[in-house]
Amino acid sequence: MSEEKRVAGMLQMGYGTWNRPGEEAYQGTLWALEAGCRHIDGAQGYDNEEEVGRAIADSGIARSEIHITTKVKPENFAPGVVLSSTKESLEKLNMGPVDMLLLHYPSIGGEYPMEEYMAQFAECLDSGLTKTIGLSNFTIPLIDQAVKLLGDRKVMTNQVESHVYMQNDAIVAHCKKLGISITAFSPLARGAVVGDKVMTEIGKNHGGATAAQISLAYLMSQGQIVIPSSGKKERIIENFGARNIELSVDEIAQCRNLEKGMRLVNGSWCPEWDAYSRA
Ligand SMILES: NC(=O)c1ccc[n+]([C@@H]2O[C@H](COP(=O)([O-])OP(=O)(O)OC[C@H]3O[C@@H](n4cnc5c(N)ncnc54)[C@H](OP(=O)(O)O)[C@@H]3O)[C@@H](O)[C@H]2O)c1
Repeated sequence: MSEEKRVAGMLQMGYGTWNRPGEEAYQGTLWALEAGCRHIDGAQGYDNEEEVGRAIADSGIARSEIHITTKVKPENFAPGVVLSSTKESLEKLNMGPVDMLLLHYPSIGGEYPMEEYMAQFAECLDSGLTKTIGLSNFTIPLIDQAVKLLGDRKVMTNQVESHVYMQNDAIVAHCKKLGISITAFSPLARGAVVGDKVMTEIGKNHGGATAAQISLAYLMSQGQIVIPSSGKKERIIENFGARNIELSVDEIAQCRNLEKGMRLVNGSWCPEWDAYSRA
């Protein structure tokens, strides 16, 4: 296994477990671990924490080698519930404290005041349920509010949609300024990058690397953490092969130019991303 890169102490490549029910999450997690991945991205809302935990246990890999993230769903932001639901997640995962706990989304429609749920979130860290904390789907004003409320507790990452077709420049730049890493979700644009002409062409300079691999290598060249998901063993291996690809300055510029504002995760519960323009 090649030397794994870390960003803000986190392994730069992880395996995403969204939309992988039950045994599919179990099998996918095992295949990712077999492929050398040691970072698994989970969430309460994915309804598969038990299977992910079981796969990690069955892999026989030492717990200390694996970074596991889970996320508190906004439906659990009521008084007392951030803490109790995190304890439930830990019971399901069955491996002691998680390495990272995220708030999956800001409170939907402002149902719960941030002061209240952030205080509970801080308690999860202070009481040792998680080793580190971070945010997900937080926009610039919400990041600033969260950082202020968390005081000297370090926000390690903001997990947001980020791929070549929607690079989320404004949030990425703001997090960089604050020393908060970006974890790119849907880094393959949910499969849309496959067969991209520009990235397939770039792949020829890297032993025939696929567009999927180039798109992940690009995000990693920008210092982002990537958490691609697949239910297929050969694709999981392919995706983790991106760890070994170093793009040139010119190739990076070509990938940067693929931006087209293509937002994919945009349900009614999602906050409006901060606007940016490439003009
Ligand atoms: N924080 C959040 O709100 C949030 C939101 C969305 C996602 N996430 C996290 O990010 C992870 C990844 O995001 P995602 O699942 O939305 O999208 P993604 O990783 O960009 O893409 C996954 C899709 O691409 C296909 N795929 C994967 N590798 C491929 C390859 N090498 N060649 C061709 N197709 C490939 C998969 O199909 P097959 O399974 O058929 O291979 C699947 O349909 C999630 O699992 C989750 O952990 C977080």
